Amino acid sequence: MDSLEQLIDSARQDFQAAPDAVSLENAKAKYLGKTGLVTAQMKQLGKMPPEERRARGAVINAAKGQIESALNARRQEIANAKLQERLSAEAIDVTLPGRGRGKGGIHPVMRTWERIERIFGSIGFDVADGPEIENDWTNFTALNSPENHPARSMQDTFYIDGKDTQGKPLLLRTHTSPMQVRYARSHELPVKVIAPGRTYRVDSDATHSPMFHQVEGLWIDTDISFADLKGVYLNFIQAFFETDNVQIRFRPSYFPFTEPSAEIDIAFGSGPLKGRWLEVSGCGQVHPNVLRNMGIDSEKYTGFAFGSGLERLTMLRYGINDLRLFYEGDLRFLRQFN
Ligand code: PHE
Repeated sequence: MDSLEQLIDSARQDFQAAPDAVSLENAKAKYLGKTGLVTAQMKQLGKMPPEERRARGAVINAAKGQIESALNARRQEIANAKLQERLSAEAIDVTLPGRGRGKGGIHPVMRTWERIERIFGSIGFDVADGPEIENDWTNFTALNSPENHPARSMQDTFYIDGKDTQGKPLLLRTHTSPMQVRYARSHELPVKVIAPGRTYRVDSDATHSPMFHQVEGLWIDTDISFADLKGVYLNFIQAFFETDNVQIRFRPSYFPFTEPSAEIDIAFGSGPLKGRWLEVSGCGQVHPNVLRNMGIDSEKYTGFAFGSGLERLTMLRYGINDLRLFYEGDLRFLRQFN
């Protein structure tokens, strides 16, 4: 029997006996490697006379081809076996019921935000949005709070590393009132706008959070008075709380950017809060200095502004007693609103 036939047979057996890819590659080296048995046969060719060499070379090459196809066949077998093994190990149980998609919901404060936009939108107010990182001038100075004025300490805030173009510190806005200035300076008169958004102060307890939401209101025209403020705000409160059985009162107060200034209190005529006066907003007639900083003729134009806390309105609407619930992300709380 030709030794090449034996070689092919024993290669087939060795390949077949190899249980995995590593041992198969070792078996391959035994035949086809640099010092392998087939290679050794090739090396013999050099010592043969040329006419024999040719015929013998062809025979060895044919044998080599057979060994290679045996090797490839076994490689394929091993790979298939491995795949089968993985498929059965990682079997997916398609009978398992789906988990379903988690349903998101709207946060109660966002619900209030949206309601307020809808209510004021229905009586012709534009809705504006502005930066939460403010400069000193817009947050304070333009609103009639000069540097070093004690009224600034009513609103302690977070300062940002980095300065504005005037070299003044940047800060997280302490209220939405800077939007009065931004909006009025960039729009034609009359101005009739609300600006809801996030605001920041160094405050943290059951009724104060370092981040909270306000909505600013501003209406400036040739003859906008406190009476207009009262009408608009009462209308808003009635729409927001879905009741006509609510009273509103203005309690004198102080803000640098309004004169006169007031706090707005409301009292429900029924329900668990019946008869209690509850503070919901600051407000007032826009101060002439502020009108001037807006580039508006304060002899010709007047206006009112208010700033209300969205958390506060939300707490009153739903009877929530701890502001921190809004920020804890507890689904037992949040699910009640969706
Ligand atoms: N910006 C004031 C505050 O945050 C509220 C306010 C707004 C008062 C507009 C008057 C007019 O307390």
